[in-house]
Amino acid sequence: MHATGGQSTASSLSPEASAYGSPTGRRNFLIEGLVVAIGTFVGLVPLLAGVMVYLDPLRRRGGAGEFIRIASLDSLPDDGIPRQFPVVADRNDAWNHYAAQPLGSVFLRRQGDQIEALNAVCPHLGCMVDFQQDRDIFRCPCHNSLFEPDGERIIPPDGNCPSPRSLDPLEAQVRGAGGTAAVWVKFQNFRAGTPERIPEA
Ligand code: FES
Repeated sequence: MHATGGQSTASSLSPEASAYGSPTGRRNFLIEGLVVAIGTFVGLVPLLAGVMVYLDPLRRRGGAGEFIRIASLDSLPDDGIPRQFPVVADRNDAWNHYAAQPLGSVFLRRQGDQIEALNAVCPHLGCMVDFQQDRDIFRCPCHNSLFEPDGERIIPPDGNCPSPRSLDPLEAQVRGAGGTAAVWVKFQNFRAGTPERIPEA
């Protein structure tokens, strides 16, 4: 005696497969899949949040590209002569905090209400420039690049200036008033040796 094709197929399937074969079974299968997907997603959210918190110190380095208090306004004479100041700030690296770390150096120049700030690093190969008050120029001691007091590169008569660009200007602000007024600078280093001004991390 032979079973019909339909009877043979139904009898060879497992109970689960048989159940999912019907419209109700397929609906149950989709609902179960959705529940599993939502449960997985909900379970991953706190896990990802925990990973982000754990890695948070890696994302908070401090320093580059941030405004840093450089000096009191009173310490900067209103005479247009650039003066050099260290840049010091707290820094964070992976899971560590370092207080009062030297980050670099800037020249500030005050003319009336105007404050100009320049990064003291020579754009040629990264030496620190000096301001020579008697000559009214910046000079790099390493390869003799020269710059105007506003940071503009000076091209000598032979056209050979080692620095590929002018000194790097920085954004400066006066914050506070009266005796508490201070100069803040958005400190940033830039890649040396390129005509373009490319910020470094
Ligand atoms: S590093 Fe300044 S001129 Fe070379």
